[in-house]
Amino acid sequence: MSRQKLIAGNWKMNTSLAEAGSLATGIADGLAADAVAQVVVCPPFPWLAAVRGQLAGSAVQLGAQDCSPFAGGAHTGDVSASMIAELAGWVIVGHSERRAGHGETDALVNAKARAALAAGLQAVVCVGEDLPVRESGNAVPVVLGQVVGSLSGLSAAELGRLVIAYEPVWAIGTGVAATAGDAQEMAEAIRGAIQAGWDTAVAGGLRILYGGSVNPTNAHEILIQPDVDGALVGGASLQPDAFLAIVAAAPR
Ligand code: PGA
Repeated sequence: MSRQKLIAGNWKMNTSLAEAGSLATGIADGLAADAVAQVVVCPPFPWLAAVRGQLAGSAVQLGAQDCSPFAGGAHTGDVSASMIAELAGWVIVGHSERRAGHGETDALVNAKARAALAAGLQAVVCVGEDLPVRESGNAVPVVLGQVVGSLSGLSAAELGRLVIAYEPVWAIGTGVAATAGDAQEMAEAIRGAIQAGWDTAVAGGLRILYGGSVNPTNAHEILIQPDVDGALVGGASLQPDAFLAIVAAAPR
């Protein structure tokens, strides 16, 4: 099954309002008319509305970096999926920086994914092992456990509106990406787990991204792996030229 490549930029807690505007404009203006990949940028919450305006009329889509598992009410500081859906089409859930920094469990990530899908968003559900797990040789079972826990109870139709991002924690922001072979191995294992838990059609249609120190130099080799359907890009998504080079590295 052919799956359109997806390149998503995770701006994290970076950019001023002015910088967000020029970054969005730079990406929108620079995106090649014949780009084959789908492109999403995920600015910080306060800039979503402004960046939405900057992207108007371009093919670049908008996402947020997190959402509340709750629909609304007394949750000071949180942002609901339905609020995001008024401005954007996508949301990242379960990023390792939220799992580590905010104690997010697979169960909470599952609740956030459900909230996102219920609000009509497309979700990027992140999983990935830390260095001790990688060194222990248990990366595949640990990541598959995260996948099953984070997606538990979702229907085949719901899985059709989400993307999994495999992001090994030791590769995020370190400049040390996983090898293309390691990214492929994990993506293939994740697809196998989806096939086992749902069915072949769901597994064949599901997009699995790699994230962790993706840059213009390593992007092509990673993106040509048969089970790697795109990239979630942090640092390199803050420079239009680097981000657009990664978009351009996606094979047809
Ligand atoms: P990085 O971040 O590209 O800076 O490693 C990726 C991510 O955390 O999504």
